[in-house]
Amino acid sequence: FTYKGVKKVISTKFSLQFTKGYLSETELNQAIQKAEQNRKVLIEKKGKGNEFLGWLTLPKSITETEIQSINSTYKKLSNHSECLVAVGIGGSYLGARAVIEASLPFFEKKQGMKILYAGHHIDSDYHKELLSFLENVDFSINVISKSGTTTEPALAFRSLYGLLVKKYGESKAKEHVVATTDKSKGALKKFADEKGFETYVIPDDVGGRFSVLTPVGLLPIACAGLNIAELLSGAQRMQEFLYTTEGDKNLANLYSAYRNTLYAKGKKVEVLVNYNPKLYYFTEWWKQLYGESEGKEKKGIFPIGVNFTTDLHSLGQYIQEGERILFETILEIENPNQDIFVEEFAGDIDGLNYLKGKSLHYINSKAIEGTKLAHLEGGVPSLSISIPKLNLENIGELIYLFEFACGISGYTLGVNPFDQPGVENYKNNMFALLGKKGYEDKKNQVEAKLKEL
Ligand code: PA5
Repeated sequence: FTYKGVKKVISTKFSLQFTKGYLSETELNQAIQKAEQNRKVLIEKKGKGNEFLGWLTLPKSITETEIQSINSTYKKLSNHSECLVAVGIGGSYLGARAVIEASLPFFEKKQGMKILYAGHHIDSDYHKELLSFLENVDFSINVISKSGTTTEPALAFRSLYGLLVKKYGESKAKEHVVATTDKSKGALKKFADEKGFETYVIPDDVGGRFSVLTPVGLLPIACAGLNIAELLSGAQRMQEFLYTTEGDKNLANLYSAYRNTLYAKGKKVEVLVNYNPKLYYFTEWWKQLYGESEGKEKKGIFPIGVNFTTDLHSLGQYIQEGERILFETILEIENPNQDIFVEEFAGDIDGLNYLKGKSLHYINSKAIEGTKLAHLEGGVPSLSISIPKLNLENIGELIYLFEFACGISGYTLGVNPFDQPGVENYKNNMFALLGKKGYEDKKNQVEAKLKEL
């Protein structure tokens, strides 16, 4: 298998069947025209935030040498380590986890290193338990941070690196650390150079949430024993398709038109629905992509995710009958990788013998159809995005599709989809409260405000 040789035809398909009554052809066509204009703005790099568009051409620009280098780092690490701890948060974490969890078996470990995660929150129990677990396991760290100073991963890295030095000694510990960070600036780059860690670069023109197809995502994914060339191949054919397909044939235009038309009609919450628990972290990745890209200037669709049919037994009631501010985007997998069939049960105690011989996938597909209809009738329209199988190539397609559509959609909303000014506010308060140098005045203000509340 090679990442080169883009197939012209993509696997991903859309269906707008369950939007009937919510989107007229005229409305959709107008919105598609707008999306098409913004698609051109995006690919011609003429819009807001155009200094962060390096991700647009990543799938096709990555070289065989870069892929080989990532794979050989994996081989090197796996020679001495059973586990890799991926240390990162937000865009430096979610993409890798999304791909890994969508691709690995649920229970049995069949391939690669065991991937653990740290620095994606500050919970003490989690990090203490992780350190205790790693006491008796050979492990390495991939610390991933563009700035190198993000509080959560930096704190986790301190204690994990400390444990490596304790276990292996300073000179051997360096063989257990790979830093993925800025090419020249930042605290982590400086520390990595001082200690002699292997490093990978997060390109200047790629923001965190668009970085899964750089070493940020690719190295942990490779270390999980997954074929990154397959992932890139899917992304590559989607890149080719979205660059060369115009108007209503372009899926990114359609997705942007669908969601922005419904948003203009008061549907302010988009629910990304999956019926396969392997897509849980893919949904988390999508939430960050759209939430951080569009939620600004007091506007933006609020992205949430649900896992059906599980959440039909918790959030299903709200979706069916609560505030009518929701629309759904449903990720569907046409064919399972494996299936099981319902057997006859003596006495038919649960009344399910009528399903004898039916497969679980078939039953799931009827749950999907029935739910889509019920939700549409309850006032929740949905778009279905389907892939033939859950595999790396198709995940690659979806990643690139959602990224590209996010650019178009953000421009349609009128915001800069590639910045995130709002994420600093909580950090500034936290730094002031923790007594960080330079925050002395802010500390007094924050404490006074907290007292007033
Ligand atoms: O998308 C983003 O920009 C953020 O989620 C960042 O990736 C996240 O805050 C981590 O930042 P850094 O890589 O600098 O540690």
